[in-house]
Amino acid sequence: MSSLKSQTVSHNISSPYLSRLARIERVTRLTEKERLFNIAIEDSKTLGHAPGQFIMLSIPGFGEAPISVSSPPDKGNMFELCVRAVGNLTNALHNLTKEDKIWIRGPYGKGFPVENLKHKDLLFIAGGIGLVPMRSLIKTVLNERSSYGSVHLLYGIKGPDEILFKDELLQWGRTGNINIQITVDKPHPEWKGHTGVVTTFIPPLKIDETKTAAIVVGPPVMYKYVIMSLGDKRIAGHDIYLSLERRMKCGLGKCGHCQINSIYVCQEGPVFRLSNIRYLREAI
Ligand SMILES: Cc1cc2nc3c(=O)[nH]c(=O)nc-3n(C[C@H](O)[C@H](O)[C@H](O)COP(=O)(O)OP(=O)(O)OC[C@H]3O[C@@H](n4cnc5c(N)ncnc54)[C@H](O)[C@@H]3O)c2cc1C
Ligand code: FES
Repeated sequence: MSSLKSQTVSHNISSPYLSRLARIERVTRLTEKERLFNIAIEDSKTLGHAPGQFIMLSIPGFGEAPISVSSPPDKGNMFELCVRAVGNLTNALHNLTKEDKIWIRGPYGKGFPVENLKHKDLLFIAGGIGLVPMRSLIKTVLNERSSYGSVHLLYGIKGPDEILFKDELLQWGRTGNINIQITVDKPHPEWKGHTGVVTTFIPPLKIDETKTAAIVVGPPVMYKYVIMSLGDKRIAGHDIYLSLERRMKCGLGKCGHCQINSIYVCQEGPVFRLSNIRYLREAI
């Protein structure tokens, strides 16, 4: 029998169950409630995520939560998270600064099918914080812009002060590589832009339904109306991709918290084709 001293403990860092230590490199205030965190993984290995996937982020003593990766998958051991402060974990994260440590596990779930989207016209429709996971895909598309047809982003938000990634949106718009339309529910006096729900942008759009894919991420209330408007444009259910947000605990298909009928959103989603979930009454 080997002695304890001679035994080696094997750390399988590729295990999906294991947490990895990460370091906050920069914190940027985006709005009153949302901050962008630039994060470096301490073991210097890449996160290895696809756009639309999420990680489980934990701070000992405060808990753990699923958070989407907001950066594209091309940044070495660095990645970005945009987090809204709503409770225990997310408020604790907002109190951290450069050099503070967090734990992450993942990436988990199925993201957007980047290869299937190539050569298509893309219609991104984001509501509120839905722009966070979508940004990873938008940046992936812009990095290889010539592989896609026309690209539209329709973005609806409560008020002008809640617009996320304002500088990036301006810069993307200036390049002419993406056509951006923003609308707010409640304007303030200085707001010169559009007011109303995001679906009002859809009817006037010139869309070739035979080569358009729609990517929709937002609050559950938005989905029903967006899906109806996309149906009016004759975009097929298999060309509509939605990211569903459900309460998650394990992120690994073990606890059942995210279950809708027979589907575990953490494993088979969070990104789904509309045609694959249309039959699930509780999904949308
Ligand atoms: C796949 C996925 C990706 C996500 N990506 C992001 C992201 O990129 N950025 C971001 O800011 N948030 C994201 N969220 C939401 C985030 O996980 C919750 O806001 C977080 O779990 C709250 O944790 P907390 O400990 O701070 O709040 P708690 O103290 O647990 O709760 C505070 C409040 O938030 C509500 N809440 C808790 N969990 C959720 C949840 N999963 N959905 C909605 N409300 C919840 C509670 O009912 C309570 O009102 C994502 C959720 C999922 C499922
Ligand atoms: S979060 Fe546990 S099964 Fe999906």
